[in-house]
Amino acid sequence: MTDAPNKVREHYSSTGLLNRIMSALTTVLPGDLPLTVDQLAPLDQFHTRGVLATAELASAAGLDASTRVLDLGCGIGGPARFLASTLGSRVTGVDLSPDFIDAAKYLTARSGLADRVTFQVGDALHLPFEKETFDAVFLQHVAMNVQDRSTLYAEVRRILAPGGRFATYDLVLGEHDVVYPVPWARDASTSFLLSELDTRSALEEAGFKAVHWRNDTQTALEWFRAVMAGSPPGGLNLGVVMGPEFREMTANLARNLRENRLGLLSAVLMQN
Ligand SMILES: C[S@@+](CC[C@H](N)C(=O)[O-])C[C@H]1O[C@@H](n2cnc3c(N)ncnc32)[C@H](O)[C@@H]1O
Repeated sequence: MTDAPNKVREHYSSTGLLNRIMSALTTVLPGDLPLTVDQLAPLDQFHTRGVLATAELASAAGLDASTRVLDLGCGIGGPARFLASTLGSRVTGVDLSPDFIDAAKYLTARSGLADRVTFQVGDALHLPFEKETFDAVFLQHVAMNVQDRSTLYAEVRRILAPGGRFATYDLVLGEHDVVYPVPWARDASTSFLLSELDTRSALEEAGFKAVHWRNDTQTALEWFRAVMAGSPPGGLNLGVVMGPEFREMTANLARNLRENRLGLLSAVLMQN
């Protein structure tokens, strides 16, 4: 038995997160007014290219109002709220971090989406759902934190209904050593990257076939160039969630992509 999930939980644990979020919210929106997904996007989309990437993956996976979605490793719930509010999907979010789930529930209630989006603490390797419960599984910037990739993908396959879609968007290993800290790991002890080729093999061994497969590294680099040319985001941003180190983590992520230490992959898969 490995202590990897505990170390990952520790990496994302965040004392006082809810209070920090509430106080950051007052800088953009006074009082208890309802929040929109657009207002929250700089804070709650915890992956490269933010809400743009979520929208593209949802479209590639063909999600709509009838889709029962599991957002696995949902963070503070931005992608789940986006899917519910723009497509009308019913979404369940699961995450290892209790702090993130508390924040996700608060933000969802403030956004008026609690009737369509629910959250619970859980480990992607032991999902508390019957087989064939969901029509789609979203996994964005999570797999690189999961050491046991074959169990992860087998769990996704188990809880997907026949004909369901598995939409994944994750970092992959490049050709050189990764520079830490990065947003998912302060050092190599919580980082379990695979190359694009090994990711594909692990998915195929778990019984998936790709219906969409795209290397997004260049698109991400262009996005980073545009973001870094602008002024640093004030008010709502992911530094509120991850603390002052987040700027260095993000700069290292961009450097790793630029120097072919990391790549970025988006894919939609179906059961064989
Ligand atoms: C970089 S964040 C991405 C959050 C979210 N998917 C998003 O894009 O906004 C990675 C998330 O994966 C979660 N995570 C990592 N390993 C997990 C596991 N074994 N089970 C469930 N969640 C996990 C972390 O707690 C964290 O919230």
